[in-house]
Amino acid sequence: MMISKIKILALLSVFALTSCSNNDEVVFIDGDDGEVITPTPTDPVPPGETTAETLREKAAWKVGAAVTVGHIRDDAQYDKALSENFSQLTAEYEMKMNRIWTSSSTYNWTETDALVQYAEDNDMEVHGHTLVWYNSFPDWFKNANYDSTAFENNIKRYITDVVTRYKGRIKSWDVANEVFADGGGNRQEGTILPVFNDPIAFYGRCFQYARDADPDAILFYNDYSVVLDSGKRAAMKSMATRFKNEGYPIDGLGDQFHYREATSKETIKSGFEDMVSTGLLMHISELDIRMNTNQSDSYTFTDAEATKQAATYKFIVEMFEAIPDNQKFAITTWGVTDKYTWLTGWWHPKEYPLLFDAEYNKKKAYEGFLDGIK
Ligand code: XIL
Repeated sequence: MMISKIKILALLSVFALTSCSNNDEVVFIDGDDGEVITPTPTDPVPPGETTAETLREKAAWKVGAAVTVGHIRDDAQYDKALSENFSQLTAEYEMKMNRIWTSSSTYNWTETDALVQYAEDNDMEVHGHTLVWYNSFPDWFKNANYDSTAFENNIKRYITDVVTRYKGRIKSWDVANEVFADGGGNRQEGTILPVFNDPIAFYGRCFQYARDADPDAILFYNDYSVVLDSGKRAAMKSMATRFKNEGYPIDGLGDQFHYREATSKETIKSGFEDMVSTGLLMHISELDIRMNTNQSDSYTFTDAEATKQAATYKFIVEMFEAIPDNQKFAITTWGVTDKYTWLTGWWHPKEYPLLFDAEYNKKKAYEGFLDGIK
């Protein structure tokens, strides 16, 4: 059984370790009333303490989860699992542009404010997701058909207003999300790409607008399949190099890590090492491990499947732990519980990708993650 480092320190401050007798029995004296407590060999933990170490206690970096305000409010078990085990949160959708920017002259801060407050009340940090993503522009903006100047002036105003509002409270932002196409080159989307002759320079200025609004905020580029797709990774790295050469700020890179159990671990590892070679902060930003690879209606998440999934989580966390300490930003799972995962809608109703099962039991995947932490 293990007690966390934090709990050991807490215990040491409450209990004075006074003597070790000949048979190595450890005796604690409770600092408050002098009562002698002698733990038995089978129960070495003083009364009231639990032996289970949590992810947030063990990791020297942030362990995040994507969350929604509604689940925090309506599901007490969700709130408990989240606050006890994670040290950072990302809004699953409440901080996307179409949620906040309700019209050209109005913002809806209600849900974002609530999430930031919740994080502070529970000693968690907030990772902002995401300022500029082609897929979350509000309809009113898209319908305005702005020219490049009006488009950028509006985006500059949005970034400035959002980042300024949460200055010092939202510690990090995904400034840009999913800029590149699978295989490399710019993503062929109809919102940003057609407006700018040089869209990468536009994104560089977006990073600068965020930096100007909160110089202390840590700024990320985020995308999916980065470690698997060498073409996309090369495009991302060359953007980071260009930003460096041209003076645009960027602090870190995120790979979403929506991977399958069967995804090649060798490929993940070598791709990740290539990301790490940039020297930037690393964020495994939307981790979930799909098990029902064939999208089969008869799939069963057996104990053997749970064991395989745990090994994959452990592998990913160990891989992250192996990089230089000063490049470790966070690992964020895209959700808390299999009860609510975007994959049951988007992938298959029988999907079990996260660390807690639908009844809020810690899965083997949780233990795998925990074991992977140094
Ligand atoms: C997804 C959320 O999980 C869904 O709830 C929402 O309806 C759509 O967006 N890449 C991203 C995330 O960067 O923002 C996406 O989140 C998942 C894929």
